[in-house]
Amino acid sequence: MAILNILRYPDARLHKVAKPVTEFGTERLTTLVADMAETMYDAPGVGLAASQVDVHEQLIIIDTSESHDDLRVFINPQIVWASAEKQVYDEGCLSVPGVYDGVERPAQVKVRAFDAAGAQFELEADGLLAVCIQHEMDHLLGKVFVDYLSPLKRNRIKAKMLKESRGLEREAALRAAGRRY
Ligand code: NI
Repeated sequence: MAILNILRYPDARLHKVAKPVTEFGTERLTTLVADMAETMYDAPGVGLAASQVDVHEQLIIIDTSESHDDLRVFINPQIVWASAEKQVYDEGCLSVPGVYDGVERPAQVKVRAFDAAGAQFELEADGLLAVCIQHEMDHLLGKVFVDYLSPLKRNRIKAKMLKESRGLEREAALRAAGRRY
């Protein structure tokens, strides 16, 4: 298993639209799911979309349990029903570290998806799980939660992220330079 690099907003690759998975039960898919799970738990986060690790296929993983032992895999997920009732949750994202803001979404959803072996299932979700499913499925459409915020807020977040990225790059350069002496 390996920890994968998570793309950081505003990386343009986060806006790519993911393609359906066509081959199930393959070693490649098993490895991808295992690596994504390790990456999510290490971060730590409660959900991760393949888009965030630069794999543009319709695959998301979620674990909202306290004990980190309830991994759910959704491949080619589709929302087949959403409640009229909405809820606002403070969302965060591993691609936008340190930023949290309220997003309004349907309070309950029914999702249809395939597991890694290719078996289809349906799941009705509410609460945090419903939020996560919708948040991660947005990633597959190339959408990040900050896209729901006002342009003013989004630009502020973009500037903050770019500043932090420059800081991280500088640090890495200094560390690399340091090793040469
Ligand atoms: Ni996210």
